[in-house]
Amino acid sequence: MKISDCHNFHDFRKLARQNLPYPIFNYIDGAADDEITYKRNSQAYNDVDLVPNVLAGVEKIDLSTTIFGKKIDLPIYLAPTAVQRLFHYDGERAVARAAEKFNTMFGISSLATVSVEEISDMIKTPKLFQFYFHKDRGLNDHMLQRAKSANFDVLALTVDTITGGNRERDLRSGFAIPPKFSFSSLMSFLLKPKWSLNYLTKPKFELPHLQEFVVEGTSAVTSIGEYFSSMLDQSMSWKDAEKLCSQWGGHFALKGIMSVEDAKKAVDIGCTGIMVSNHGGRQLDGSRAPFDQLAEIIDAVGDKIDVICEGGIQRGTHILKALSLGAKACSGGRMYLYALAASGQVGVERSLGLFQAELERDMKLMGLNSIDKLSRSNLKFR
Ligand code: LAC
Repeated sequence: MKISDCHNFHDFRKLARQNLPYPIFNYIDGAADDEITYKRNSQAYNDVDLVPNVLAGVEKIDLSTTIFGKKIDLPIYLAPTAVQRLFHYDGERAVARAAEKFNTMFGISSLATVSVEEISDMIKTPKLFQFYFHKDRGLNDHMLQRAKSANFDVLALTVDTITGGNRERDLRSGFAIPPKFSFSSLMSFLLKPKWSLNYLTKPKFELPHLQEFVVEGTSAVTSIGEYFSSMLDQSMSWKDAEKLCSQWGGHFALKGIMSVEDAKKAVDIGCTGIMVSNHGGRQLDGSRAPFDQLAEIIDAVGDKIDVICEGGIQRGTHILKALSLGAKACSGGRMYLYALAASGQVGVERSLGLFQAELERDMKLMGLNSIDKLSRSNLKFR
């Protein structure tokens, strides 16, 4: 299978599985406990049907939207995800360049393998820095200042990883950062010689935002679950979020809001946006899907802040359904990570190109020429 054989999310996933050692593929592919929430995140879109109109003059389609004061050309952006160097040797560099080509937002993680400075020099399009609130306040200040100096447009504080989710696939495979070439996992790396050669010969695995402060993840091996549980500050509260928001002084979002009550509090502390998200089903299994929870949250705060629907996006129609409910945009991780693993920048561009083509086609079939015309009248719940 090659990249030109990839026509949708599932094809990219297949090619990623073909390329990656199994602990790494399963780190992307897996979720918490029984992975019920992960599955529901996508299935939720199927409980609502689109109701098209016709004869509307749809030769030109405008897919642009404005989030956090920035106009982007696609209503889907690349959510921050950790350790992209493991999925392809170009890692975040590939994803950032692809985002710039499509003029959509690129989100970079605190646990990224390329620095905010390098990304800032590389691309001119909107950039979001995803912030993990560590116990080490020196590290928190350091990351905040670097994202500020690198002129990032948005700071997003992740609020749904207060402790590590129970990711049993990672427990079984021994997935760790940096990768552990133990006796039991060695076979999985030997079976993917191309990945292993690239890992050993291409730019070294680093965590440039963290490694001056912590050894975990670079010179000391850790799992993502252990990292969350031991390094992040479990006492983090609304007061801390409010303080961070004012220290940042620009567009600020909470990533991982699921309740109406919390969405309202986000407005009160000065957020300009929220990501309705359950972290791709990787944290609390049995929790509700973002799309299922979206309408209530939009009704409560949608006229005050940008509400982003994050997770489960596999199709252009999923995005149209979330926008019809009132989301300003959608975002996702796996929707471009499999493509990154499949073929680096070329893969991510192919996945964004397919989303763009699907969105344009689906808008034409819906009888609408710009996404701001999507509304709840386009939808019927079953
Ligand atoms: C994860 C984190 C690192 O879900 O975002 O693995």
